[in-house]
Amino acid sequence: MRYYILTLFPEMVLSALTTSIIGKAAQKGIIGIETVNIRDFTKDRHQKVDDYPYGGGAGMVMQAQPIYDAYRSVAEQIGRRPRTVYLTPQGRTFTQAAAKELAQQEELLFLCGHYEGVDERVLEEIVTDYVSIGDYVLTGGELAAMVMVDAISRMVPGVLTNEESAFMESFEGNLLEYPQYSRPVEWNGKRVPDVLLSGDHKKVEDWRREQSILRTREFRPDLLRKAKLTIREKAVYGVNDRG
Ligand code: ADE
Repeated sequence: MRYYILTLFPEMVLSALTTSIIGKAAQKGIIGIETVNIRDFTKDRHQKVDDYPYGGGAGMVMQAQPIYDAYRSVAEQIGRRPRTVYLTPQGRTFTQAAAKELAQQEELLFLCGHYEGVDERVLEEIVTDYVSIGDYVLTGGELAAMVMVDAISRMVPGVLTNEESAFMESFEGNLLEYPQYSRPVEWNGKRVPDVLLSGDHKKVEDWRREQSILRTREFRPDLLRKAKLTIREKAVYGVNDRG
């Protein structure tokens, strides 16, 4: 997987994506992260990349030409037009399922907008996916692109260790994570649940499953309706298709 991130703030993106698990995966060459500074492609004498909106209104609009030329430099380098994600609150909401699907690509290009938006004509020309990371407005697309790169990279084979992926798999299926405890057995007057000290793997597994279901029912009833529960579990936890 190779990511190409078109941005006016390459340092911001690189600082987050060169550390921790994603940084390690990049060092090992499992993923590649390349930022492309849109400003490097402006033909304006003053290095401008934005201008006033036609029709008036507040703010500035990022112009088509520098973005298109930055995009073309990537497309030429890889020899095809890449899947191109534009980060916008108007896009389809990003989910784990979308992360998995995008992780199948050999390369992904992210376009990070700023100011009041981007000239519509260049979006029409290059964007394949309009994606939002949630119903709130950020000052630019960079943080959203970083969130996506992180979530997608976890799904790329080799990025997580076996242990890390096994841990993740146990939380799939639309259930929230069960609570975790480590040493000491008693801290601040609170004891670790006895079942976890019992050494009975079946009991531990059942308890964790129950905790996952209870937490999901409390915090994300919308998810619970999509979770794969047995008929017995549905009866015990009072779950039906209408919630
Ligand atoms: N740019 C601004 N807000 C955004 C959001 N919520 N998701 C993706 N890109 C954005």
